[in-house]
Amino acid sequence: MFEQDMEKVLITREEIAVKVRELGKQITEEFKGEQLIVVCILRGSCVFYADLIRELELDVKLDFMVLSSYGDNSSTSGHVVVKQDLAENIKGKNVLVVEDIIDSGRTIKRLKEILLEREPKKLKIVTLLDKPSRREVDITTDFTGISIPDEFVVGYGLDFAQKYRNLKDICVLSPKVYK
Ligand code: IMP
Ligand code: MG
Repeated sequence: MFEQDMEKVLITREEIAVKVRELGKQITEEFKGEQLIVVCILRGSCVFYADLIRELELDVKLDFMVLSSYGDNSSTSGHVVVKQDLAENIKGKNVLVVEDIIDSGRTIKRLKEILLEREPKKLKIVTLLDKPSRREVDITTDFTGISIPDEFVVGYGLDFAQKYRNLKDICVLSPKVYK
């Protein structure tokens, strides 16, 4: 589907599955025997999140947050707004934030500040994808899936103008789509 809009497949569904299992093992190890609130950052993380939680051999609670996003273009504004907040009180709890991709780093940096003010016991970040060459702020993640070059990708939850989220592979979007 939408083949004509894609430049190429960057990461296949099989490669994604291997990586998600690896991340699940690492996170399980980190929080062994403890409770964990797993936070999905809607909407981009939803597919990764659904797969990742089933790789966690832990006592997990699920929670969701909606942040302001890109809008319909392909570069970040740097201004992060919480559109829908968590249901859980995270004070004194272990929290894992699940992100789809870290680009400039602004979204996750601001989110980290917002959540740390609530005094969780431990706050960790997992991202499936990382574009280190695009970083504008100093931010580190605790678990990183796959580092990718500076290309705009869609699929497996990631969108362009809310489209392509349901593709099974992660693809490089053809620049002709957004130029
Ligand atoms: P940051 O604040 O610049 O790190 O932006 C992170 C957010 O931008 C992600 O959660 C995505 O929603 C979006 N984003 C960044 N790069 C891409 C991409 O290549 N494809 C789709 N969304 C992206
Ligand atoms: Mg997003």
